[in-house]
Amino acid sequence: MSIKQSLFGGGSRELVGLDISSSAVKVLELSRRGGRFVVEAYAVEPLPPNVVNDKQITDPRAVGEVIARAVSRAGTRTKNAAVAVSGSSVITKIISLPSSLKENDMEEQIKAEADQYIPYPIDEVSLDFQVLGPSAREKDTSDVLLAACRREQVDQRVAALEVAGLKATVVDIEAYALENACQFLSHQMPANGVGKTIAVVDMGASTTSLLVLHDLQTAYTRDQAFGGKQLTEDIMRFYGMSFEEAGKAKRFGKLPDNYETEVLGHFIADMAQQIDRSLQFFFAAASRHNSIDQMILAGGCAHIPGVDTAIQERLQIPCVIAQPFAKMSVASRARPAQLANDEASLLIAAGLAFRAFDEEA
Ligand SMILES: Nc1ncnc2c1ncn2[C@@H]1O[C@H](COP(=O)(O)OP(=O)(O)OP(=O)(O)O)[C@@H](O)[C@H]1O
Ligand SMILES: [Mg+2]
Repeated sequence: MSIKQSLFGGGSRELVGLDISSSAVKVLELSRRGGRFVVEAYAVEPLPPNVVNDKQITDPRAVGEVIARAVSRAGTRTKNAAVAVSGSSVITKIISLPSSLKENDMEEQIKAEADQYIPYPIDEVSLDFQVLGPSAREKDTSDVLLAACRREQVDQRVAALEVAGLKATVVDIEAYALENACQFLSHQMPANGVGKTIAVVDMGASTTSLLVLHDLQTAYTRDQAFGGKQLTEDIMRFYGMSFEEAGKAKRFGKLPDNYETEVLGHFIADMAQQIDRSLQFFFAAASRHNSIDQMILAGGCAHIPGVDTAIQERLQIPCVIAQPFAKMSVASRARPAQLANDEASLLIAAGLAFRAFDEEA
């Protein structure tokens, strides 16, 4: 499921996926030739600390400058972008409306009744909806997916993109972008995911998101405020480094011998515990599921050497590292070798880039 119309604006064939995350701006452009996807361009450009906090852009100009650098490094000329909003101000709800209503009338009715569904004043929200189909519960009504978020979340993104000369033609919801990206992981699932329960865990810098798919449909999602930033802070404390030094050292493996036992081991144990906790919430919420067939680890923390075997051992669930581009061709401009080092952290960007194919679907 994905908001096809997006929170505002429509889909466009030529667009880049732009993930403005807490640690970096990630740009990804896909094309489709025949039945095969091609990675045309990509870049990951780090953000200075605290310009994106709690999913909010606090400094659109600074973020805009980083977007401009990322786009220039990616070498794409596309000016349209799909971005995502997320966090506590994003609300999605399935409501029922009379099937006889036309789209325009639906919009009017939703706006008139919005205060039932949304805890903010209507003039402070961006709102969108998508008709899902006839409601199973009530005759002559349709299930309609309503998506809303505080307008300032959209405005900040639009402003940051403008600084870089880009236009936000699609505003998606991060959880849906992640869900959309899971189609690029099916080759890593047993039986391509058919009939299986798969946990996709995006371990980012500030947030770890769990998405459980059952038979390739979303069964559960949960976000936790935990991620690689914690490891960076542990390294800073333990070795007396700055944030930047610690971040580089952990990525490029330049740390003393006791790093694995004294710092990294504890972090991985914490991470496993956090994932386990989220899985317990899932099992409690979805009582017909009591096991996971496979876990796919994503996000920058999936690139920590050995993290898959360590988590597999602790949780006793088969683990693999996300390879969303394994079945795609990669243009030489997209620097294939470099892409392999970043690919697990590009799921949201991939889900957003996929919005370029909305109209063909
Ligand atoms: N090779 C590596 N070894 C260790 N840590 C890594 C490696 N590569 C990336 N990371 C860490 O992964 C994190 C960044 O991951 P990612 O790009 O998925 O985060 P993000 O999307 O910016 O964060 P969030 O989704 O929480 O906003 C950082 O903490 C970074 O230090
Ligand atoms: Mg992320």
